[in-house]
Amino acid sequence: MKKILFIGSEAMPFAATGGLGDVLGSLPAAISEAGAGEVDVRVVMPLYRSVNDTFRAAMTTEAEFNVGLSWRSVYCGVKSLKKDGVTYYFIDNEYYFNRDALYGSFDDGERFAFFSKAAIEMLEKIDFFPDVVHAHDWQSALSVIYLKCKYSQRPLYSDIKTVFTIHNIEYQGKYDLAILADLFELDWWRDVVEYDGCINLMKGAIVCADKVTTVSPRYADEIRGAEHSHGLSAILNANANKLCGILNGIDYVYYDPAKDDKIAKTFTWRSLAGKYENKTALQREIGLPERADVPLISIVSRLAAHKGMDIISEMVYTLMQESDCQLVILGKGETSYEKFFADLQNNYPDKVRALLTYDRDLAKRIYAASDIFMMPSKSEPCGLSQMIASRYGVIPVTRETGGLYDSIKGYWEKDGKIMGNGFTFANYSSYELKERTQAAIALWSDEEKRRKLIGKIMRTDFSWKGSATKYIDMYNTL
Ligand code: GLC
Repeated sequence: MKKILFIGSEAMPFAATGGLGDVLGSLPAAISEAGAGEVDVRVVMPLYRSVNDTFRAAMTTEAEFNVGLSWRSVYCGVKSLKKDGVTYYFIDNEYYFNRDALYGSFDDGERFAFFSKAAIEMLEKIDFFPDVVHAHDWQSALSVIYLKCKYSQRPLYSDIKTVFTIHNIEYQGKYDLAILADLFELDWWRDVVEYDGCINLMKGAIVCADKVTTVSPRYADEIRGAEHSHGLSAILNANANKLCGILNGIDYVYYDPAKDDKIAKTFTWRSLAGKYENKTALQREIGLPERADVPLISIVSRLAAHKGMDIISEMVYTLMQESDCQLVILGKGETSYEKFFADLQNNYPDKVRALLTYDRDLAKRIYAASDIFMMPSKSEPCGLSQMIASRYGVIPVTRETGGLYDSIKGYWEKDGKIMGNGFTFANYSSYELKERTQAAIALWSDEEKRRKLIGKIMRTDFSWKGSATKYIDMYNTL
């Protein structure tokens, strides 16, 4: 039996703010299923305030002890809960985690240093020593660093292998060198974490891990170049022998238009009539004209620059003038973009709805209802929304970068046969985005082609099946 411990800062359905939470909420179960009884995957995450009472009531207390963090000695509770056959552990400390938001506190460095250390110390308290510790993103990077630098001399810990997964290289966990000793206890290991004049936790984990993965093969290549690496390309090139990319999947049970009770009408690729009932229902809900003949374009995204918001803003007024279409935007983010989309709605009250919020159920109703999905990211480690959109029969318009490149291939026809599963463009250009969106609108307006393309898109496999096996193969190489 191979034992794997995921260490990460969020997991669905307990607490999540983005894609990392989706992955940690679904990949462990997929690995354990693909491992057919031979792989025991467990997950450890913080016990945030937002973990609801139903989950709390079902938890068992596994251990209570104190974690030393330099001169501090800090309480740590470990609770556990089983979900879909996977054991989830929760690190409990009210001072660090009983807060409104998961991230964004002044002391995030200290909070996640505590979490990373607690996750390692926990192992001897609960008597579970994994073969592989698999840490995700900067918040758990220190667990890999501590294992390599501080714990590897201890017999119980010395055989543990480590994997570090980069979900987004933009967030590296950078801190002032002044807290090296006082907080991270890494004064002896300064070389490991120092980079570019500061502490860089992601860099430290890349150097220390036995294997570094990222969430798509294309992104694994891209981050070795200066354009996408946010300063870490030299480190990644020096560690290229241990770097690989494995494409994410999505939870095919949670996202299933044939069974989803959060949408107006279930549907499959064979019975698309149901999809169009969702469209009318959404148009009614958000107050857009109830028209079946007009393509409904959607954007479900954090309103951040790297998601392509500037090229959307550059082309969207022209698109509204030139094309008979409707547009719904769901998401919040940078104030300037929120204001931009609110203004757009004011200018086109019959065509545009800007829903400036984060709401998972509303997102499902939008996927179920819409015809075309726009995702022109400047950079995209993997991206899950284009996969969810595809599952719900929405034609994606994406830029060829990172996981978007690996998951969506441009439409073309060969001997009357439809190739590809969306509309794609290469350059980060509002012109190309507009041109491809209008090409998608033109195809959508041809009922026969639309039916064929949507059928093909909905049958594309974005489940975890293939990738879960790739993770197991990778663990076996360690
Ligand atoms: C991050 C990335 C996103 C990826 C997700 C899960 O949120 O930005 O592209 O899909 O992590 O790996």
